[in-house]
Amino acid sequence: MGRAFVYVILGGGVAAGYAALEFTKRGISHGELCIISEESVPPYERPALSKGFLLPEAPARLPSFHTCVGANEERLTPEWYKEHGIELVIGTQVKSVDVRRKTLLTGSGETISYKVLIIATGARALKLEEFGVKGSDSENVCYLRDLADANRLVDLMESSSGGNAIVIGGGYIGMECAASLVINRMNVTMVFPEEHCMARLFTPKIASFYEEFYKSKGVKFVKGTILSSFDIASNRKVTAVNLRDGSSLPADVVVVGIGIRPNKSLFEGQLTLEKGGIKVNGKMQSSNSSVYAVGDVATFPVKVFGESRRLEHVDSARKSARHAVTAIMERNQVDEFDYLPFFYSRIFTLSWQFYGDNAGDVVHFGDFSGGTFGAYWVRKGQLVGSFLEGGTKEEYEAIAKATRLKPEVEDLAELERQGLGFALTV
Ligand code: FDA
Ligand code: NAD
Repeated sequence: MGRAFVYVILGGGVAAGYAALEFTKRGISHGELCIISEESVPPYERPALSKGFLLPEAPARLPSFHTCVGANEERLTPEWYKEHGIELVIGTQVKSVDVRRKTLLTGSGETISYKVLIIATGARALKLEEFGVKGSDSENVCYLRDLADANRLVDLMESSSGGNAIVIGGGYIGMECAASLVINRMNVTMVFPEEHCMARLFTPKIASFYEEFYKSKGVKFVKGTILSSFDIASNRKVTAVNLRDGSSLPADVVVVGIGIRPNKSLFEGQLTLEKGGIKVNGKMQSSNSSVYAVGDVATFPVKVFGESRRLEHVDSARKSARHAVTAIMERNQVDEFDYLPFFYSRIFTLSWQFYGDNAGDVVHFGDFSGGTFGAYWVRKGQLVGSFLEGGTKEEYEAIAKATRLKPEVEDLAELERQGLGFALTV
């Protein structure tokens, strides 16, 4: 025995919250929608966990950052779900799914059936063990994916103020956590295998600006090497981080951000997978017509890339969720999802935005000594990507618009000379 719903959202993160809002905007009846989430709180804006949540003064705490405040929409509190007749099954892991029978089995043994399923299971943090390093479960080693992780990190920062923090990984988590650790008065060293930070997106020139800025805040960089082992004391605390280059760094706190893996294992052998995610079409519909996938777990066609990709960013989670709900409610009579990739970060007093694809020739522009600067990517004579640090709202809108229009660029030197002016006049 179990419950039956018309719509079930599996996962209770960013995409689930934005999907729920869209369902109510389009009109669903009480009792039709259910959200099942392993987390013990309703959907929230995950990006807050590496930013406002880690501030020493007036940190952000729930309920202030429940979805959908991140897009200046309503804040969906537990009461909101109740008022809208949406069943929130939280603190509950789904153990198996049968897409043929349209049922899910929860950890508490309940079978929940659906007519339409939206998979919004996001991703999990990659563990050091997957790279052959033991000790992830030590008292002072921290990953950052959910609220429980963020609470642990806050406790660790409080109990080791003034101590040494080692950040493993030079991607988004590494950069944002390193900044937060500095603000919490820790001595920070970042360790990563690449030649520069944010290697998936930044050019060496852009990376060099941020690294110099971080160094001015006291952050040290150990590049081109990885962790080989931890020294762990009898109290289960890491005391030092040993690197493959033979050096050793004393540690009071270790924060690990070495990438993610999408949560798709429930669907292996049941749905078509691609590039590590669940393959969907331009309506976010999977190889089973009753099952849609959105957010970090979905591999969808992206026009600017000319191929399907999985994106791991909040804007994509929000918009793909809305698009899936629109497609479901309009019985697939909708346009293909036409998404312009958008990534951003805020660190210290800095703030950048990126739109499109970072492929092709790069042209840098602006003031790299601490003012507004950026870069364009030009592929096959067209602008395909834009990056801007320190822009105004209007300037960010301009680079977004220019990138979407994909204007022709004949002369890279002229583009460099025009700089931001190019986007402002397209
Ligand atoms: P999300 O991970 O949000 O939610 C997945 C949900 O599914 C979770 O609630 C999980 O518990 C649940 N779940 C999974 N398996 C389940 C199961 N079997 N049963 C029940 N529940 C299950 N992006 C950006 O553009 N700008 C930014 O500044 C940031 N900052 C940022 C900071 C931090 C700390 C993180 C971890 C991530 C970011 N991101 C970001 C990335 C962004 O948060 C991410 O892309 C979205 O959260 C993806 O939304 P989803 O809903 O797809 O997954
Ligand atoms: P990431 O993919 O951005 O970076 C992973 C980093 O791990 C790489 O840059 C590399 O330096 C490092 N690395 C890889 N293997 C390693 C190894 N064996 N040892 C040491 N370092 C190694 O992933 P992340 O930083 O862990 O972020 C996780 C997820 O959270 C991503 O999906 C990201 O998009 C998301 N996120 C986004 C934002 C944002 O958009 N502002 C902020 C925080 C998190």
